[in-house]
Amino acid sequence: MGFAELHLHLEGTLEPELAFELAERNQLTLPWRDVDDLRSRFDYGCLQDFLDIYYANMAVLRTEADFAELTDAYLARAARAGVVRAEVFLDLQAHTARGVPAEVVLAGVSDALSRSEVDHGVSSGLIVTFLRHLSADDAECAYDQALATGVELLGIGLCSSEVGFPAAPFAPLWQRARADGLHTVAHAGEEGGPDYVWEALRELKVERVDHGIRAVEDPSLVAHLAEQRIPLTSCPLSNVRLKAVPHLAAHPLPAMLDAGLLVTVNSDDPAYFGGYLDDNLVAVRDQFGLRQDQLDTLACNSIEASFLPAAEKARLL
Ligand code: ADE
Ligand code: ZN
Repeated sequence: MGFAELHLHLEGTLEPELAFELAERNQLTLPWRDVDDLRSRFDYGCLQDFLDIYYANMAVLRTEADFAELTDAYLARAARAGVVRAEVFLDLQAHTARGVPAEVVLAGVSDALSRSEVDHGVSSGLIVTFLRHLSADDAECAYDQALATGVELLGIGLCSSEVGFPAAPFAPLWQRARADGLHTVAHAGEEGGPDYVWEALRELKVERVDHGIRAVEDPSLVAHLAEQRIPLTSCPLSNVRLKAVPHLAAHPLPAMLDAGLLVTVNSDDPAYFGGYLDDNLVAVRDQFGLRQDQLDTLACNSIEASFLPAAEKARLL
C-alpha cells in the first residue's frame, strides 16, 4: 500500500546541490562557501536555528521555473519513497516578502503539481502555510494574493516559530478559508506544549494537527484526539534534528499508536533533516522494531488522514 505525505514543506526539499545551482543561475551569493559548508550547519539547537538557514536559502528561488523544478524534484523523490498522495505546504509569504510575486511562485508550483499524477503517479494538493511570526493581517493579505492567482488550493496551514506566537489571532482567516471550502491545518505541539494543540483545535478548528507530539503530555487531549479521529502528522527525523525529542528512542510515536491516535509519519523538511518519507519509516521501524501490521496501520492512517474524497481513499486503502 502507498503512503500519503501530509506534512512536507516544499522549501524544505531544497537540497544543497540545487540551492547552489539556482544561486548560480540567478547570480546570487549564498552565505555558505559550498555544499559541504551548508551541510555542516545542519546541526540545530532548536527550531529557530533551522528556520534561520531555511529562510536564508529560499533567496535562490526567484523564477517560475525554479519553483517548478523544486516541486518536480520532490515529487520524483517522493514517488521513489512510496508516496501516492502528497499534500504539500508552501510558505508563500517567505517569497512575496522578498519581492517574488505570488503569481510567479504559484504558477511554478502548480505547473509541477498538475503533471504529478501522470509524471510520477503521485496525486497532489497544495496547502498555503502562513507564518505565525508575522501578523494575521499579513496572512490575510497573502491569502488574498493566493486567491487572486486562480490557482486551486486544497487548504491553508500555520507554521514557523511556535512558542510565543499564539494561533488565536489567525482565527478569522481560518474561518474565512473554511467558508471558501478549503481544508485547514496548523503546526502545534512541536516545541510548544499541549496547550498549543488545544489552541489550534479550539481557536482555528483545524482538521489536522501538524506534529502534535507533545499532545501525549495531556491524557484528556489524547482522549479527545483519539475520539474525534483528529490526525497528527508526526515527523520523527525532524523532531530529532530540531531537538523536540532528545533522541529517536524517546519519540512518542509508539505511544501514539498504542493510544489509538490517527498518527502519520512524514518528512517535514527532508533536505535539512536527513531523510525523505522512506528514510523516516526505516528509522522508526528499526528503532522501535515496528511490525508489518504497524507499518500498514501507518500507511492506512495516512490515506485516512488525507483530504482525498472518500471514493479515492477507498481505492487507495
Ligand atoms: N517550517 C518549515 N519546517 C517547519 C517546522 N518543522 N516547524 C515549524 N515551521 C516550519
Ligand atoms: Zn513542518
